[in-house]
Amino acid sequence: MISALRPDLMVDHATVSNKDIEIRKASMQDIPALLELINGYAAKGIMLPRTEFELSENMRDFMVAYDGHTLAGCGAMHFYSPQMGEVRSLAVAESHRKHGIGRLMVDALVYEAKLYGLDAVFAFTYVEEFFGKAGFHVVERGELPLKAWKDCLRCPKFQACDEIAVIRVLRPQRWEQKQQLPPVLGVEDGSVVMLPVLRN
Ligand SMILES: CC(C)(COP(=O)(O)OP(=O)(O)OC[C@H]1O[C@@H](n2cnc3c(N)ncnc32)[C@H](O)[C@@H]1OP(=O)(O)O)[C@@H](O)C(=O)NCCC(=O)NCCS
Repeated sequence: MISALRPDLMVDHATVSNKDIEIRKASMQDIPALLELINGYAAKGIMLPRTEFELSENMRDFMVAYDGHTLAGCGAMHFYSPQMGEVRSLAVAESHRKHGIGRLMVDALVYEAKLYGLDAVFAFTYVEEFFGKAGFHVVERGELPLKAWKDCLRCPKFQACDEIAVIRVLRPQRWEQKQQLPPVLGVEDGSVVMLPVLRN
């Protein structure tokens, strides 16, 4: 593995709120624990469910946080364009919340996004305040790549979406230049994208 692309080097065995946490890139062996963590929250309607196939297909996006042998948290950085990536499947186990692990996870994902030269990262979320503390701000959905909404199609809240879009700009100058191009809602790369219905 190329050492410059190993965010785990930065956060390996980080100590947060008296817990020794190892954050590293995920591997296929993490899938059963990831399914349990993510789909546990999905059952409560606060995250999108993931299948074993989806996790396998996107495993290189994922990072995991371990407290000993226990999966304490996870998150993924999914690339959509040369400019933008999404923080998704971010979850911290109930037993480990409010110990700084979510923040560590976001920092590690952002670090990776910077290594790959992204201009900005975004997320769809219910926890605006958490992301605010991690340097994100609320953004109009129209500023995000339409491909990012393909997951919305299978979301149970497609007809009444109440998630907030947040963004963290990593390279302000390049980001500003891009913003001067007019957004084209509904069509991207020649294909029509179904947009979710906003609840408010
Ligand atoms: C949201 C989540 C990832 C936060 O993880 P966490 O490890 O508990 O968060 P941290 O301890 O790193 O918190 C970092 C900061 O955000 C704040 N914060 C954490 N959760 C918050 C919440 N739900 N609302 C408001 N602020 C919150 C913390 O108080 C802390 O603030 P501080 O720096 O001033 O002390 C976790 O609660 C979770 O997994 N929730 C369920 C799944 C989910 O909603 N995922 C997000 C999908 S986009």
